[in-house]
Amino acid sequence: MDKIVIEGGRPLKGAVTISGAKNAALPALAACLLTGGWHRLVRIPRLRDIRTIQRIMADLGTDFREQGGVIEVNSENLTGYEAPYELVKTMRASILLLGPLLARCGRARISLPGGCAIGARPINLHLKALVAMGADIYLDHGYINARAPRLRGADIFFDIPTVTGTENIMMAAVTASGRTILKNAANEPEVQDLARMLRSMGADIEGEGTDTIVIHGVDRLETCEHTVIPDRIEAGTFMIGAAISRGAIVVEGCIPAYLTSLIEKLKQAGADISAEDRRITVRGPDRIQSVDIKTMPYPGFPTDLQAQFMTLMAIADGWSMIRETIFENRFIHVSELRRMGADIEINGGQALVKGKERLLSAPVMATDLRASASLVLAGLVAEGGRTEVHRIYHLDRGYEAIEEKFRGLGAAIWRESEPPL
Ligand code: EPU
Repeated sequence: MDKIVIEGGRPLKGAVTISGAKNAALPALAACLLTGGWHRLVRIPRLRDIRTIQRIMADLGTDFREQGGVIEVNSENLTGYEAPYELVKTMRASILLLGPLLARCGRARISLPGGCAIGARPINLHLKALVAMGADIYLDHGYINARAPRLRGADIFFDIPTVTGTENIMMAAVTASGRTILKNAANEPEVQDLARMLRSMGADIEGEGTDTIVIHGVDRLETCEHTVIPDRIEAGTFMIGAAISRGAIVVEGCIPAYLTSLIEKLKQAGADISAEDRRITVRGPDRIQSVDIKTMPYPGFPTDLQAQFMTLMAIADGWSMIRETIFENRFIHVSELRRMGADIEINGGQALVKGKERLLSAPVMATDLRASASLVLAGLVAEGGRTEVHRIYHLDRGYEAIEEKFRGLGAAIWRESEPPL
């Protein structure tokens, strides 16, 4: 297994180009199951999670052609409708296959995703919506079995705005009979991106980006070419990297409008930020100021940047309160940050971070993707030698060439393989 080694203390400088968004690319690939023929997807990041969904789709008979960041996908000759436990257990987002498989094949069998490091993460709202659309659903041996000769449109109210839930039901509804209205829908940029792709396939869908999405089912969809949006979480991670290392970087190829909440918080922390079309320049302050954050659905502060922002607050001047409202267990990075000298107290969904002058290098590991990113950021500023971040397969799930990109910004960071114990 690989580890990442960082020698901290170098301010980030230069420019970094942002890859396609993992959480937009995954539903885009799943949407290719809705109709056969070659779809062309552009700016697909090379990530472990992308390979996982491709592998499940390939096992179901989907063909892929790849070049650079372009993936062509053809599900003309689907031979199955099952996503097995062995793969789903490595990536919960496999649940995104449920809606399109059910719409296309009239049935789907998907391993029920278990809890994960950050919370229980139920999928009850996905299932409830499909039942409202006429699906017959039962669980056996850890699998969700769904059947519906043809889904029918329905009025659906999500008790909680759910990102993959909204995406799943959008995909299920585009070829359902009649009209589907999704109320209290998620409005994340990745949901909007999927709506744009579905529309270019011929779907009749409107309202994305608001909390009400209306879909009129169509009889046929076509193949499409779609370019996925840049990854706002990757962009945000580098922006926090610039601030924490007191560097100055240009984040190229991102969409500043998708990062408004982070930009505001970084400005309050003392960073100098200017945003133009597709580019954000971040200059870190000499002393970072403490700022409170509360994670919220978009356009609020993203839960996927909470861990990284907490690392920044760990060396801020003063105390900050970090509230996590989306997932019940998303402070797993705290104990590792403490090992690097951070002073953080957790009380339920709140973390009180008492900023320190410095963090000290240490061997650390994390059990989730964004927590791992927060430890890499901590390593960039840690004093006293090498920080080693273990179990980096989590990082490889969601950050494309992260160490190469940080190295391009002047960081002393590299990957080493670890001999098995
Ligand atoms: N929820 C339910 N029932 C459901 C679905 C969700 O109670 O049926 C709850 C969840 O437990 C959570 C809240 O609703 O408390 C919101 O969860 P959501 O469904 O929106 O999360 P998700 O769709 O499983 C996506 C991203 C996550 C990101 C969250 C929140 C993908 C593939 N994953 O997850 O990304 O944190 O939205 O923005 O899009 C990551 O990339 O590191 C990551 C975890």
